[in-house]
Amino acid sequence: MDHYNNKPKYAKTDHVLNPSKFDQAYECIKNWPDYEPTPLISLDGLANDMGVGNILYKDESHRFGLKSFKALGGAYAVIHVVREHLKQLLSDTTITDEDIKSGKFRQHLKNFTVVTATDGNHGRSVAWGAHQCGTNCIIYMHKAVSQSRAIAVELLGATVVWVDGNYDDSLTQVKADAIKNEWHIISDTSYEGYMFVPKFVMAGYSVMTSEIENQIKEQELEIPTHIIIQGGVGGLAGTICSHAKILWGDDRPRFIVVEPEKADCLFQSAKHGAPKLVKVEQETIMAGLSCGEVSLIGWGILEDNTDDFVTVGDDNVPSAMRLLASGVGDDPKIEAGESAVAGLALLMELKDNPAMTSALGIDENSRILLFGTEGATDQEIYDKIIAEN
Ligand SMILES: Cc1ncc(COP(=O)(O)O)c(C=O)c1O
Repeated sequence: MDHYNNKPKYAKTDHVLNPSKFDQAYECIKNWPDYEPTPLISLDGLANDMGVGNILYKDESHRFGLKSFKALGGAYAVIHVVREHLKQLLSDTTITDEDIKSGKFRQHLKNFTVVTATDGNHGRSVAWGAHQCGTNCIIYMHKAVSQSRAIAVELLGATVVWVDGNYDDSLTQVKADAIKNEWHIISDTSYEGYMFVPKFVMAGYSVMTSEIENQIKEQELEIPTHIIIQGGVGGLAGTICSHAKILWGDDRPRFIVVEPEKADCLFQSAKHGAPKLVKVEQETIMAGLSCGEVSLIGWGILEDNTDDFVTVGDDNVPSAMRLLASGVGDDPKIEAGESAVAGLALLMELKDNPAMTSALGIDENSRILLFGTEGATDQEIYDKIIAEN
């Protein structure tokens, strides 16, 4: 475990993500068929076990049947890109999402292709969005992504292209092939020259924080003192950090970004004071977090606003998953995939590290918000981990 206290500047990137984008995303997504807020669960038994005051767990394991929070981002961005394309093509500004999903533009979209690189969850969301809009969809996966994550994407009608190397290599290939074939990239990461679409992906994620704000009021809870959020490229963390600041202002929780030791591009960038490329030599068990290059938008927000960047090893991940699966004391049983438990794995490591616990300002009164970002997105891997002991 490693820690970098960032001393946030709370400065320039306040409005990298325009607050109205969050409201628009919530208004749009809450009208999708089968929309339901995901639960915000108080885990008192677990909090007691971890020696903190309270743990709130945002459980994304059943989001739109796609089993991860990513359902909110990629699909939302696909619909936006398709709508803009049709508006220009047909010079019609009145086209709605319902029109698109009804299939009435199928003919106009028959040569329209969306493409992305993925570790699994984002690709599934893009494929779902493409399926609803009736566009073609191609998903690039690197060879360490599991077969069942690929099958989940194929079942939504997308074509999977396998790439040698890691996630970053698959993204490089997408960029090259998209230019050659005039495909539309729907990436969850942003880079020089590609900033527009990821803002919609990130705005989609903010539905979680909109729901949390409502749930805190409905359940008469106190605002958490700490948010511990896991980082891959930093799109998720950037969104939650920025939205938390808008929602709670000076009362916002202390913001801790946690990454796998084997893929710590945000942590290394923070130490370096600028985006730093990390070569992922070995895959972490937290497959969704296995990224070596930060999202520039996410990084811009986090650099200015994050309190702490922390890394965790893989060792506690299986036991964190089992702890949630069995429930501590009267806590409900929760299905949490490998990338969902990074925050809990950190709390478990902190139990043996009082110095680090105090450096993070965590004590028996802390109210910790964790994001359970996925359920069993690969059922076979999940079942195997839960069965082990
Ligand atoms: C389950 C899960 N949690 C967290 C993340 C991290 O999100 P980001 O890459 O935006 O940091 C991912 C990314 O794919 C994921 O799949």
